[in-house]
Amino acid sequence: MAARRKLIAGNWKMNGERADGLALAGELAVRAKASAPACDMLVCPPATLIFAVGFAIAGSGIALGGQDCHAAPKGAFTGDISAEMLKDAGCSYVIVGHSERRHLRGETDADARAKVEAAWRAGLTAILCVGETKGEREAGSAVSVCCGQLAGSMPDGATPDKLVIAYEPVWAIGTGLTPTSADIEAIHKAVRAKIPEGMRILYGGSVNPKNAADILAIEDVDGGLIGGASLKAGDFWAIADACR
Ligand code: 13P
Repeated sequence: MAARRKLIAGNWKMNGERADGLALAGELAVRAKASAPACDMLVCPPATLIFAVGFAIAGSGIALGGQDCHAAPKGAFTGDISAEMLKDAGCSYVIVGHSERRHLRGETDADARAKVEAAWRAGLTAILCVGETKGEREAGSAVSVCCGQLAGSMPDGATPDKLVIAYEPVWAIGTGLTPTSADIEAIHKAVRAKIPEGMRILYGGSVNPKNAADILAIEDVDGGLIGGASLKAGDFWAIADACR
């Protein structure tokens, strides 16, 4: 069984206008062309920048992804974007089931599952997010919550090239808080037991250049899904460098 190559993915969320988004993408491309990163790298800009960022990173080896997609291929869904449209715009990945979609938009496991299937239909790799809230962690149910979300949102037929799992504790996102290494390892191990061999499991939630090496060294952590720290080229690059 080949070793799982780490993936460092940047989720820009609703950040970036043309000037700063292109500067960020351009700087990452320059760095990646100058010295090949020790991991796979992905950036997921806001939809308005996907095309432009795609041009900026062309030839760098950095992949492009969307932050969400609709389950249908096309139709009367004002404001939404289909997986096919992301593919057409140059994406190879799409994030689905992010906690900000689950908690702020009321998306369910069934919604996330339908979006993973949409991603596969379009030929995209889905990054499926799971994670417990602070209350669920304090109640001792983090493992069961994450495994429940996984069971509800991972379709049959998942393979390592079509699906990546991201463990993102809701309380660790954007807060500067992170679980202990033992807690991260426990969730990743529990998830590992429920997914096909070779599938990557990312950790996300307040990863930064200082804590990245420790987090990425945890068994069963196959990379990171990075929010705030992916908005600075130097910080995002330092996190990718921590894979060495
Ligand atoms: P932060 O890295 O800003 O905590 O965000 C994590 C995240 O939600 C990535 O999807």
